[in-house]
Amino acid sequence: MHNNTDSISAALPFSQACENNKQPILEVLQQELQDFTHVLEVGSGTGQHSVYFAPRLTHLNWQTSDVFAHHATINAWHGAYPAPNLYAPLTFDVSCDSVPINKAVDAPYDAVFTANTLHIMSWSLVEKLFELVGHALPINGKLIIYGPFNENEHYTSAGNQQFDISLRQRDPKSGIRHLEDIIALAKRHHLNLSDKYAMPSNNQLLVFQKY
Ligand SMILES: C[S@@+](CC[C@H](N)C(=O)[O-])C[C@H]1O[C@@H](n2cnc3c(N)ncnc32)[C@H](O)[C@@H]1O
Repeated sequence: MHNNTDSISAALPFSQACENNKQPILEVLQQELQDFTHVLEVGSGTGQHSVYFAPRLTHLNWQTSDVFAHHATINAWHGAYPAPNLYAPLTFDVSCDSVPINKAVDAPYDAVFTANTLHIMSWSLVEKLFELVGHALPINGKLIIYGPFNENEHYTSAGNQQFDISLRQRDPKSGIRHLEDIIALAKRHHLNLSDKYAMPSNNQLLVFQKY
């Protein structure tokens, strides 16, 4: 089981942020997903999180997904670090009508994980994500979201403010979301904030549970 970048991953498309945050995120997932079985990851990106989490959460099926353009990279990481409970990416753009189904696993998702996606998507796509996930999850299912959030109308750090400015310069529809807006949106889809964890570099991990 790999811990850090090595000669194999050096040849793959690489996210330093994933490398930095994977262990703190894993520690929360080990706690929050103890009694869960089937996770859909939305916006898997490079796939680095999935290859780190799946072998350390062996009681779970870890289903990756992303828009098709990311699949080759995710598959390359999976090829380098296969795990029996790690599933090749499904095509999932949240603008579509439903979450994609893993036909190899005869069980519905009981959790959804997504990292660093809400500030990339437009607000209308964030709304769509909550609508789809709220519909797909069973009662007590969890939606776990990692990323930066503003609180009480304020940035939580100067670094996050700079990051938000750079995001909006690149795409005016993107940007760091307000925690209060996310909580209100989640409620509209029967998802209640059950836990909130402070994470390194002024990020947060939000846990919503369906009721
Ligand atoms: C900043 S990357 C984060 C990737 C990875 N989760 C991580 O933490 O490194 C944002 C991800 O969101 C995905 N994404 C953006 N818009 C999307 C959409 N409409 N539907 C699904 N995924 C989307 C991108 O393809 C990309 O993989």
